[in-house]
Amino acid sequence: MMLAPGAVIGILGGGQLGRMTALAAAALGYRCQVFAEEADSPAAQVCASATVAPFTDAAALARFAKAVDIATFEFENIPAEAVRRVAAAVPVSPRPEILEIAQHRLKEKGFLRSIGAATTEFRAIENPAALDKALAELGVPAVLKSVRMGYDGKGQVMIRAAGDSHAAWRAMGSDLGILEAFVDFEREISVVVARGGDGAIAAYPAVENRHVNHILDTTIAPADVPPAMAGKADAIARHIAERLDLVGVLAVEMFVGKNGRLLVNELAPRPHNSGHWTIDACHTSQFEQLVRAICGLPFGSTERHSDAVMKNLIGDEISAWPEHIADPHAKLHVYGKTKVKPGRKMGHVTRLLPKR
Ligand SMILES: Nc1ncnc2c1ncn2[C@@H]1O[C@H](COP(=O)(O)OP(=O)(O)O)[C@@H](O)[C@H]1O
Ligand SMILES: [Mg+2]
Repeated sequence: MMLAPGAVIGILGGGQLGRMTALAAAALGYRCQVFAEEADSPAAQVCASATVAPFTDAAALARFAKAVDIATFEFENIPAEAVRRVAAAVPVSPRPEILEIAQHRLKEKGFLRSIGAATTEFRAIENPAALDKALAELGVPAVLKSVRMGYDGKGQVMIRAAGDSHAAWRAMGSDLGILEAFVDFEREISVVVARGGDGAIAAYPAVENRHVNHILDTTIAPADVPPAMAGKADAIARHIAERLDLVGVLAVEMFVGKNGRLLVNELAPRPHNSGHWTIDACHTSQFEQLVRAICGLPFGSTERHSDAVMKNLIGDEISAWPEHIADPHAKLHVYGKTKVKPGRKMGHVTRLLPKR
């Protein structure tokens, strides 16, 4: 069923992904209502209306669900219970079960393995003794991550020597972890794919992601990898979207091993930072594809008219905005966050290059 322009799209989460989704929705004539825990969120600033309440507020969730025709989410760490409450009243896409997989690193890797997608070796870690056992099996270096609530490298500890295990367990700061064998990758890539309720798929080319302090710093679109590898990454992303029965947008983060092997790192069932370049370099952005997917509209072309380099403006880097705006070929995006904090994504700038 097609949801016509004029309908109200609910967005759970008030960050920049919600903001850019709402801007794309507005261009097509939809209204958005955001649900955010804080007032004046980046998304609420550009939405027709907002519900400001904790995600645990059942009455507020009910009010929100009543005010919207359909809903989606822009943030992985929304409590699953909140999403389920909204889904009991209005259609939520992607379906809440997909969010529950993506917000739980063990479920996520288990799902990936179950559909034959390659990942690094991993073990569930419930206590320091389990960590020692897993370190003996997987070796060092290894990465200990909290199973829940991780993003931008939060809740992650690199373990370089088995003797560091107890300090790592404490630093991870959660009672359920996942130990991953360290991947000595050649580079990191991702594929953003959109899938509709009719099974139609629209995928963007694989891009390269460079991280600084575990936070995405730069995306190079497209990734400079052999066509066969780009094709394989594309096939992996499509396969995952299909097996998730996704309606919406999904980013698949992958490691390119030194041996050329692709390992899936993690999934994000929402628009992704590594897809921001599509706003300025493609016929249809990842945000518009999300709106199209959840409203039952056909996809726009993912074709790119330019290559692009997207640089995140993190923390104080946002103070360089006058330099970026002075570059007539740069496309500056500022998220409207009032407080600058170290490690906080404040905006991004995309530079377009002739298509190779
Ligand atoms: N097993 C691993 N081996 C090597 N590097 C890793 C591993 N896991 C994570 N990293 C590095 O840390 C970054 C962030 O980890 P990720 O699992 O994507 O968590 P999040 O993005 O949710 O913080 C990755 O993009 C990668 O650079
Ligand atoms: Mg990641």
